[in-house]
Amino acid sequence: MPVALITGGNRGLGFALARELAERGFTVLIGARDAARGQQAADTLRAAGHQADWLELDLERPETFAAAADAITARFGVLDVLVNNAGVMLESSEWNVNTTSTIPPDVLRRTFQINFFGAVELTQRLLPLLLRSSNGRIVNVSTILASLELHATPGSNTYETKTFGYNSSKTALNAFTVHLAHALRSTSVKVIGVHPGWVKTELGGKGALITPEQAARPIAELIVAPDPPTVVVLFRGKPLPW
Ligand SMILES: NC(=O)c1ccc[n+]([C@@H]2O[C@H](COP(=O)([O-])OP(=O)(O)OC[C@H]3O[C@@H](n4cnc5c(N)ncnc54)[C@H](OP(=O)(O)O)[C@@H]3O)[C@@H](O)[C@H]2O)c1
Repeated sequence: MPVALITGGNRGLGFALARELAERGFTVLIGARDAARGQQAADTLRAAGHQADWLELDLERPETFAAAADAITARFGVLDVLVNNAGVMLESSEWNVNTTSTIPPDVLRRTFQINFFGAVELTQRLLPLLLRSSNGRIVNVSTILASLELHATPGSNTYETKTFGYNSSKTALNAFTVHLAHALRSTSVKVIGVHPGWVKTELGGKGALITPEQAARPIAELIVAPDPPTVVVLFRGKPLPW
């Protein structure tokens, strides 16, 4: 059975994606920073007849990365899919407040640690295991709010949403997607960037348009596609502007 690890897999989009991949025959590893929440998510999938377990992964504690890599090495010897899904929006619950001149430096740093630095370091740590897969996939969960072109275009549908820390950390994540895809271009590992849509989760809020399941399904389809497009951020199969 192929093995997939999803960071922030205990709830929201990550949990929905874990379920979708389990239904497609993956052994699913839920990355969670909290033991009880990780265990509960894995138990829920197992109770539905799926192969699932959880691993402690806190993107603010890089020491958890090595332990997770060791556990995957010992148990499976390979990793087929890594989904860098865990993400935070720490600066404001108001989407139309421009935080650029007010975001405290520690909030900006923490946002980048979780959304960018942690994802980069974890991926680097797990790369040897992904390269052992004949069909490896790295999925970076981005957002339409990462698009500089849309932010610089008055009238675009993200123009007024200037949550600076969140947006710019995901722009950096997009740069990681492009650079990593280049680094791995002659290997069997594909790097995919995705925007899930506006999803009803804690982060997305109540006004969001789609359920985590509706968002997760096309991403799971992309992961199992034989030759997925890379070096783009995809939303429902279409590339978004950078
Ligand atoms: N919802 C949307 O509309 C939307 C739109 C575009 C992109 N996205 C992206 O989709 C991804 C998933 O978001 P979501 O909407 O599902 O958010 P969510 O429901 O708030 O879930 C966030 C997940 O990230 C985990 N997490 C937070 N800090 C972490 C840390 N330091 N280490 C490890 N895990 C951590 C959370 O764990 P705990 O349970 O322990 O807090 C939780 O599992 C994010 O990358 C987000 O930027 C979401």
